[in-house]
Amino acid sequence: MQIGIDKLGFYTSDLYVDMAELAQARNEDPNKYLIGIGQAKMAVIPPTQDAVTLAANACSKILTEEDKKQIDLVIFATESGIDNSKSSAVYLSRLLGLSHYLRAVELKQACYGATAALQLAKGHVALHPDKKALVVGADIARYGLHTKGEPTQGGGACAMVIAANPRILALEDTCSYYMDDAMDFWRPFDHTEALVDGKFSANIYVEFFQKVFEAYQAQTGIRIEEFKALLFHLPYTKQGLKGLRAALAGVDPLVAGKLLRQFEFSRQYSRQVGNLYTGSLYLGLLSLLNLSDSLKAHERLGLFSYGSGAQGEFFSGLLMPGFEKMLDPVFYEQLLAHRKQVSVAEYEQIFSALDMRAKDLVLDVSQDQAPFVFTGISEYQRQYLAR
Ligand code: CAA
Repeated sequence: MQIGIDKLGFYTSDLYVDMAELAQARNEDPNKYLIGIGQAKMAVIPPTQDAVTLAANACSKILTEEDKKQIDLVIFATESGIDNSKSSAVYLSRLLGLSHYLRAVELKQACYGATAALQLAKGHVALHPDKKALVVGADIARYGLHTKGEPTQGGGACAMVIAANPRILALEDTCSYYMDDAMDFWRPFDHTEALVDGKFSANIYVEFFQKVFEAYQAQTGIRIEEFKALLFHLPYTKQGLKGLRAALAGVDPLVAGKLLRQFEFSRQYSRQVGNLYTGSLYLGLLSLLNLSDSLKAHERLGLFSYGSGAQGEFFSGLLMPGFEKMLDPVFYEQLLAHRKQVSVAEYEQIFSALDMRAKDLVLDVSQDQAPFVFTGISEYQRQYLAR
């Protein structure tokens, strides 16, 4: 029985800041951000969106009433949690109107969480092939104003329905994973911004990729030319390119050229949104599926997931016949094209407005047209609105 990704959805806010403008405001050469980091626009997440609403908005694009009846597992991967105890999966399940007869849980291991969720969901479906699992990765990437990490912020969510006989990507069984205790990126309690050892994180990411890619190849005997594309966690798109270049060292230039070409399709959405943390790898997958001009059924995609701290995993999947019928590239083109640009001053004001400690808060949601919005806090209880 094949199990894998049956549906894939994405949502980000309707605001962005232009990276060339941000570079100028920070006295940097715009090409450092545009080429050196590889980002053109960065999502700005308004106070009326949080990890829960970003996830709900991503799910609302893909879920049918039939899916809702069949889903009995919801795994919410995030490192932008809204509560230290209650899981975002419970909020999400209620907002989406899912059955009460399900397991709802939140999962954390930095940007790796959604991959762990995907593999756990696969195991669940293997035991219960008539059921479906909902996996989401939703985050707001925050390093702080005027920090080196600032141009690698962003935010949004990816949502996946995991099912038997999937219509997009069947996951292959062999995957290789590697863990080590590393302080490359972390966020202590009470910090709303991550702490990071930037250069170390960039290097260890590549080291983990090399380890798990070699282990995968040793286990499967699959050669690099047997992949149509290699997809990477994209904290910023240049980082994925660094991973890919490590894989291409000594590889036939024809093969390398083909993989580099597919990588360009996979990084287009991230270039316009920034880091999604948990959802980032899957945004790259959606970007490739929607934009590549040469994908065919049965072709193999390789995926590298990395979560600081640190955990890496390489796994693969085969494109299913008719996968293109499950996509909606025009919708995502419009989602990204119709966003409103904010100035650097507006972005700074929005960034600074985050308040995770409020007891009571009332937010004006009139400017946010998303189907799901965060309306405020009452007696420390977060309030949401489904339109
Ligand atoms: N034109 C073109 N390129 C330029 C340029 C110009 N004018 N000026 C600089 N560059 C290039 C540099 O050569 C450099 O390229 P390489 O990385 O290929 O050497 C690149 O732009 C960045 O320049 P710096 O190294 O000088 O940048 P920096 O010191 O300001 O910091 C950073 C860059 C370390 C990525 C920082 O933004 C950061 O800490 N980001 C957050 C951490 C991160 O994303 N780490 C990724 C791995 S961890 C992970 O994946 C988990 C996660 O999601 C966080």
